[in-house]
Amino acid sequence: MEIQHRGFFTTPSVGGRSKFGVACAWMACAFTASVAMFCGTSAMAQGGPIVIKFSHVVTANTPKGLAAEYFAKRAAELTGGRVKVQVFPNSSLYKDKEEMEALQVGEVQMLAPSLAKFGPLGVKEFEVFDLPYIFDGQNEARLITNGRVGKELLSKLEPRGIKGLAFWENGFKQFSANTPIRSAADMRGKKFRIQSSRVLEEQMRVVGALPLPMAFSEVYQALLTGVVDGQENPISNFYTQKMHEVQKHLTISDHGYLGYAVITNKKFWDGLPTEVRGQLEVAVKDATHYANSIAAQKNEDDLKGVIASGRTQVYRMTLAEKKAMKKAFLPAHANMEGRIGKDLIQRVYRETNFDPRRF
Ligand code: SIN
Repeated sequence: MEIQHRGFFTTPSVGGRSKFGVACAWMACAFTASVAMFCGTSAMAQGGPIVIKFSHVVTANTPKGLAAEYFAKRAAELTGGRVKVQVFPNSSLYKDKEEMEALQVGEVQMLAPSLAKFGPLGVKEFEVFDLPYIFDGQNEARLITNGRVGKELLSKLEPRGIKGLAFWENGFKQFSANTPIRSAADMRGKKFRIQSSRVLEEQMRVVGALPLPMAFSEVYQALLTGVVDGQENPISNFYTQKMHEVQKHLTISDHGYLGYAVITNKKFWDGLPTEVRGQLEVAVKDATHYANSIAAQKNEDDLKGVIASGRTQVYRMTLAEKKAMKKAFLPAHANMEGRIGKDLIQRVYRETNFDPRRF
């Protein structure tokens, strides 16, 4: 029987199926999950290495890619080779939405999706990280990821069979397009690829741009063929996906945060021998420290790469231009209260000293 995983837990793809079809898909997935769990358990019982498949969508030479490799190395060292982490970068195993499904059914054991990709799972509160200009800098973002809000957000994944282990940083997103962007008005009428987040959709709509959600692996082609006019990403993602080859302008706008939640299949994690789980927790901690210590530098280095390529003109917004852009985006915060929760937004405001009246 062919097992269909794609989109089985999201409303749009389920919508087209008969009830019987959906029930079959759930049964098939439950079966696959049990087999995957069983295989993992029996490998452990037979004394073979415990294999962790870690899938992600960016290249190996990005903050997340490098941190995943570092985690694999530390896991092998700390467990004396008892755990073997296989890292699959650059969507080589699964694309964005598929990797979430694969984790839930136990076909992969670890992921680090960007925080903008948890909405389709039903954990909409993660989209608070996507509010434009919500963090002045990395320190403000850390107040949330290292604090109680971060912990509470990770715990919301558990009813979905997912355990949140850590937050990894990348950095701040910059706009790119084939025409210069110096103000919100420059975005009007342009099509921008976004991640699967309603907040990002709203961010684009409030300035009259047209958002198009799309898997990360499809962005280069969409820019090349003109399906979209622009996109937003930290420079490390922009450069390593070679977007500078297909975008004439990059604007240092720092308008949004992009970080990751390192997640695992909860049943798999809880089923690990206690000693191994403890060692892996240390490996995650070490990799988190590593990721967060290299991310900013990696983005700086890749900016130099973009400039050296001579393909993309880089424009650094002035403080006044940034302030005007913040003001233009700000209505997205209030418009998204119903989705994310007014209380959560206010908590983040308080903890980071964000005052919307400043703009
Ligand atoms: C990632 O950094 O994992 C991908 C971000 C994106 O989809 O734009």
